[in-house]
Amino acid sequence: MGEGIGFGKVILFNEHFVVYGIPSIVSAIAKTTTATVEPFEGKGFYLEDLRPATPGYKEDKVEQQRGSVDRILKAVGINPSRNPINITLKGDLVAASGIGASAASCVAIARAVSAEFGLDLSDERINEIAYEGERAYHGTPSGVDNTAATYGGLIWFVRNKPNVIERIEVKEPIEIVMGNTGKVADTVAVVDGVRERKEKHPEKYDKIFRDAEELAYSARKALENFELKKVGKLMDDNHKLLQKIEVSCKELDFLVELARDHGAFGAKLTGGGCGGSMVALTPGKDLQEKVAKAIGREGFEALRTKVGVKA
Ligand code: MEV
Repeated sequence: MGEGIGFGKVILFNEHFVVYGIPSIVSAIAKTTTATVEPFEGKGFYLEDLRPATPGYKEDKVEQQRGSVDRILKAVGINPSRNPINITLKGDLVAASGIGASAASCVAIARAVSAEFGLDLSDERINEIAYEGERAYHGTPSGVDNTAATYGGLIWFVRNKPNVIERIEVKEPIEIVMGNTGKVADTVAVVDGVRERKEKHPEKYDKIFRDAEELAYSARKALENFELKKVGKLMDDNHKLLQKIEVSCKELDFLVELARDHGAFGAKLTGGGCGGSMVALTPGKDLQEKVAKAIGREGFEALRTKVGVKA
């Protein structure tokens, strides 16, 4: 039996902008998806998805998930008609929008296939294969999610040829809270919406994109200097830019405000937006608990985790 894992992720700065080559900052979180692959007495592949999930998520993504496995197997060069396999997904990463669930599963499956067939693929190759799998979910993703899911840690990511992937070192891991709106989002539709509006209002969008680029450099510096109040303020600013490109929604704005009202250093939506998840910067266990409880009291799921944990 082959086994592999992929990390969940949180984008701290510049989702959406990253699609257009603007730098982004992403961190793996301490939640993972595990895949196992074993020979199967049947035809093709069989997939059993035992991950915890936001209601409706798995049903919504089932077609994309099958397409994704097809692409992964093709990229690895395994033909399931000749080598039928059983794939099982589990782990403590909730299958939900905004936390890199699809990327984590693609990386986990690629690693498990590599282990089962003795391919010994490098991280770089796993990342490329997972990107192929991600395309079934996202069309032409930037690659930021699968990069975090593969390498872990805190990463400066720029989409380019080749992509820029640099580690950001922080003095110590930082507590965050991720609030789940419970709304399953269609990332492709949200990314397409940004593209349409950007083409329609080029001047307005150029200015917002320039601001996002500048913000990324300030954020990297603030993280490296461990100036957490500044990091939080920049997260607030980033949320404003994301509102301007119309990828927030009332549930996200509500949770972002709520987190700030309870002392979070900063908060923003994370991932594709229009549903999915938000992230609040909450250094220290006490603040993390306070913000997580406030989110929970309003009936939303709160995930307590850390960014900047060494992979
Ligand atoms: C989704 O997690 C992140 C987006 O920027 C899309 C992408 O980067 O492919 C919205």
